[in-house]
Amino acid sequence: MTEYATRYGTAQAQGRESNDMPYGQVLRLDELLKAARVHDDDPDMVLFLATHQSCEVFFAVILRHLEAARSALDAGDGVLAARRIRPLAAVMATLLRQFDALATLTPDAFNAIRTELGDASGFQSVQWREIEFLCGLRDVRFLNTAGFGDADLARLRGRLEERSLQEAYRSFTAGCQDPLIAEEVRVALLEFDEAVAMWRARHAVLADHFLGRGQGTAGSDGASYLWRAARRQLVPDVWAVGAEEAEPS
Ligand code: HEM
Repeated sequence: MTEYATRYGTAQAQGRESNDMPYGQVLRLDELLKAARVHDDDPDMVLFLATHQSCEVFFAVILRHLEAARSALDAGDGVLAARRIRPLAAVMATLLRQFDALATLTPDAFNAIRTELGDASGFQSVQWREIEFLCGLRDVRFLNTAGFGDADLARLRGRLEERSLQEAYRSFTAGCQDPLIAEEVRVALLEFDEAVAMWRARHAVLADHFLGRGQGTAGSDGASYLWRAARRQLVPDVWAVGAEEAEPS
């Protein structure tokens, strides 16, 4: 077994036991599909709610990977950090494509869903705020989001006390002796941050499509708010490195 396989490789290489459970049990499909919002009579509503749930599952995946990347950076392991970050740009791209499916809803179907769901909005996604806070984009005004309960606020306050990924990245690059590995980590983070910006921009286009100049359900100015959000960077340090010193083009 190579050293690489032992550090980064298979379940067996990492000492995890394999089990003989069938597919459905491994995935806990009974519980998952009971909780999934796929039982509504209205297929449009099913698409709308299941898309949100699917995004939330992947937000959790992103959080686990970012936490692992932060630990790897703090341990000085840039190769592992890059490996944890690298899938996330593709994950965000699949979430972006989910907006394309929602864009096929008719205006009437969208408006009926909106009426039925009242004030509920993705703006109340605690995990999305966790991703921002974990990376280092920490706008504490979001703690005042209507609908956040005590457990949500405790999770978000916990994130504010944690070391951010950006801080871990700064310490790592300051001590890293290998410029190629430092660059690998920077590019992985940049590709993730770019994919998030593109997801945000697609989201804004979707809001233009359905809401026009109308307000969002959370009371924001709708698409305009999302276009402004698309300019937010999760890890500003990894963008446009050296641009200030470059000759103007
Ligand atoms: C037709 C579909 C959708 C429309 C029209 C839409 C519209 C909006 C609008 C207008 C906002 C701004 C806050 C507000 O006033 O409500 C918002 C925020 C948000 N939505 Fe959506 N959304 C849609 C689908 C989704 C999906 C599938 C997700 C996935 C979880 C999502 C996640 C979010 C998040 C995380 C925010 C907060 C963004 C931020 O503050 O940076 N949205 N959405």
